Amino acid sequence: TRPLAVAVAGLGTVGAGVLGLLRQNAEIVAARAGRRIAVTAVSSRDRTRDRGISLDGLRWYDDPVALANDPAVDVIVETIGGSEGPARALIGAALAAGKPVVTANKALLAIHGAELAELAAKSAVPLAFEAAVAGGIPAIKAIREGLAGNRITRVTGILNGTCNYILTQMRERGREFAEALSEAQKLGYAEADPTFDVDGIDAAHKLAILAALAFGRPVDFDAVHVEGIRAVSALDIKLAEELGYRIKLLGIASCSEAGVETRVHPCMVPVSHPVATVDGVFNAVVAEGDHVGRVVLVGRGAGAGPTASAVVSDLVDIARGRHTPVWGAESFSALPSVGMERHSG
Ligand code: NDP
Ligand code: HSE
Repeated sequence: TRPLAVAVAGLGTVGAGVLGLLRQNAEIVAARAGRRIAVTAVSSRDRTRDRGISLDGLRWYDDPVALANDPAVDVIVETIGGSEGPARALIGAALAAGKPVVTANKALLAIHGAELAELAAKSAVPLAFEAAVAGGIPAIKAIREGLAGNRITRVTGILNGTCNYILTQMRERGREFAEALSEAQKLGYAEADPTFDVDGIDAAHKLAILAALAFGRPVDFDAVHVEGIRAVSALDIKLAEELGYRIKLLGIASCSEAGVETRVHPCMVPVSHPVATVDGVFNAVVAEGDHVGRVVLVGRGAGAGPTASAVVSDLVDIARGRHTPVWGAESFSALPSVGMERHSG
């Protein structure tokens, strides 16, 4: 079988991480995928930048959208970022051209996910996004596949590695907020615009995606209550500690007779709770299903390795032809009522 030819758009932390993982674990990935997975084309802004990885032999495109029209490319990996601009244009063009897409772009999915899913459904190609939520934690697969037999009532989580890293550094090392943020940026955890992290917007993007999948209905991103960690002081953290609590930025989504509620804000979490001791860049996703009860998933939520791990899991699914073909309208309407239509508006 010929290799699956992959184009990677955006060669920053995640894109370069995907190239690195696919090279380092080429054999193991091929064994699981049933064929080799080879990056053959790339796009980024700066041809001269040293990315710590060789780009020899790869076709280079200045315009990422052109990747969608390269007949020798089977799958597009979008790791540019941003809810508009080249990322949106590329994914739209790729899906319209019938090419499967793998993206880590939660901002784009939280805002335009339903529309892109419709496009994917129309072309009958996968739109895969395991990397968009909680980095290396297979949260999407867990919610969509592992808990498929359950009515999910609540999803909670530490969904931003940068904020969790900052809060942990402030508590454990007495670091200043700005210093800890700058470290998180150097480690490749933060968004290109880190206000998305510290103001809770990135966690809200991820929560909106998780809630849509868990509850089987579109979530209006503008309806998510969002509050970040800028106002959390070292004194708040110390006092919380003395009272037996940890301060965590949580995303909380619940679904009841009253409707769907989604919010992101700093919380006092008792140290006995499983997410209280999830520190540093680690994320946690806690789902509650009517038959399974509580499921807790913990792992690295940001950075090159964990995020590349999630991207490659989607590529393996696509190579195997086993990826859920669509996400969006179809999966929403496939779910029966959770008994709240009359109230939720
Ligand atoms: P970076 O800022 O490190 O990388 C973005 C890349 O996109 C850069 O290589 C940049 O090019 C390239 N780029 C920007 N604009 C264009 C354009 N117009 N045409 C072509 N290439 C372009 O971001 P990350 O790798 O951190 O994030 C990428 C995506 O992954 C985002 O959606 C992010 O939210 C998501 N994500 C990030 C995680 C992380 O831990 N960092 C974890 C999970 C998801 P150049 O280098 O040439 O300037
Ligand atoms: N900036 C994000 C975070 C990257 O810190 O969690 C992972 O999505």
